Amino acid sequence: MTSQPNRLHQLILENLHTSVLLFDEQMLILYVNHAAEMLFAMSARAMVGRQVEEIMQCESRETIDQLHNVLETGNPYTGREIGIRTPSQRLTVDCTVVPLDDPDGPRTLLVELQQIDRQIRITHEEQLISQQQAAQELVRGLAHEIKNPLGGIRGAAQLLELELNEDDLKEYTRVIMKEADRLRNLVNRLLGPNQLPKVEELNIHEVLERVRQLLRVEYGDNLNLHFDYDPSIPPIMGDADQLIQAILNIAANAARELGEDGELTLRTRVLRQFTIGSRRYKHVAEIDIEDNGPGIPPELRETLFLPMVSGSADGAGLGLSIAQSMVARHGGLIEFESEPGRTVFMVYLPVE
Ligand SMILES: Nc1ncnc2c1ncn2[C@@H]1O[C@H](COP(=O)(O)OP(=O)(O)OP(=O)(O)O)[C@@H](O)[C@H]1O
Ligand SMILES: [Mg+2]
Repeated sequence: MTSQPNRLHQLILENLHTSVLLFDEQMLILYVNHAAEMLFAMSARAMVGRQVEEIMQCESRETIDQLHNVLETGNPYTGREIGIRTPSQRLTVDCTVVPLDDPDGPRTLLVELQQIDRQIRITHEEQLISQQQAAQELVRGLAHEIKNPLGGIRGAAQLLELELNEDDLKEYTRVIMKEADRLRNLVNRLLGPNQLPKVEELNIHEVLERVRQLLRVEYGDNLNLHFDYDPSIPPIMGDADQLIQAILNIAANAARELGEDGELTLRTRVLRQFTIGSRRYKHVAEIDIEDNGPGIPPELRETLFLPMVSGSADGAGLGLSIAQSMVARHGGLIEFESEPGRTVFMVYLPVE
């Protein structure tokens, strides 16, 4: 009779998505389920009998101390968003530790681990997208309010100039018109493109070839450009002009920051089963724009894609914000990684 429920329990444990590990009173592994084998990318045979520290290094000592504490006191423990290193990768997990008190033997520890990296990424991306949208709306609203009176100021200065006889005075009206034109250009950039996107089937490499030509014209031979294309990328639906603009904005920043030995690489890849925000796509095209320049100043990183965030004396801080909203209109997302000597912007575009 007892073998039936045992087999059922075994079956349930092996099919759980949560990783389950059992430790003995010396903190040696007694049992791991299938999900734990997947999480640690090790077979149960290789794990059983090992010390906890051999398979799992916690980023803070506290978690391991807690395991020992549960063993001693018998009080359960729950830890959230714990960073651990397995022999093959870095993970973030929620962790629950429960003591199992067996009247016939020493106390053992039941540890449940749930990997939450994906949820953290989704939450982070959703925050990024909504923060960006809110900022964009605010800025566009403001730009609209400025645009009309600006037209009036410029028109009035022009009429005034016609009435003036002295050249000295005309100098003033010219300053007004010149500054009004400068502001109008800024306002137009803030408002973004006013045409609806022209969506058509595109080969992403044709977009990148146009970017290559434009960079050549702008920077000539001062820029070492490299290309690494994945020819298996299927066509995507999009507006070529907007995507060229978005990628050019990213590449232009890199080109500006790069010095003598500057290298700029454009790379493409196909990702399978990839999520952007909370949506999962069967195929996503990834375009990387990588440079070996000084890296993004740390104080800009949290807000990099918001309008008017700039680390450059003559920049308006609009290039990345415009690029992000153009890519968002394609259902995509731009992310980045940066350290001195290596900065990569990743543009993700769904292939549908
Ligand atoms: N590849 C990069 N390497 C180093 N810093 C970068 C890189 N890309 C962006 N940055 C930093 O991010 C800031 C914001 O870039 P963004 O394109 O949004 O604005 P900008 O270049 O300052 O102005 P604009 O693009 O409107 O002329 C830049 O000023 C720069 O400090
Ligand atoms: Mg820029």
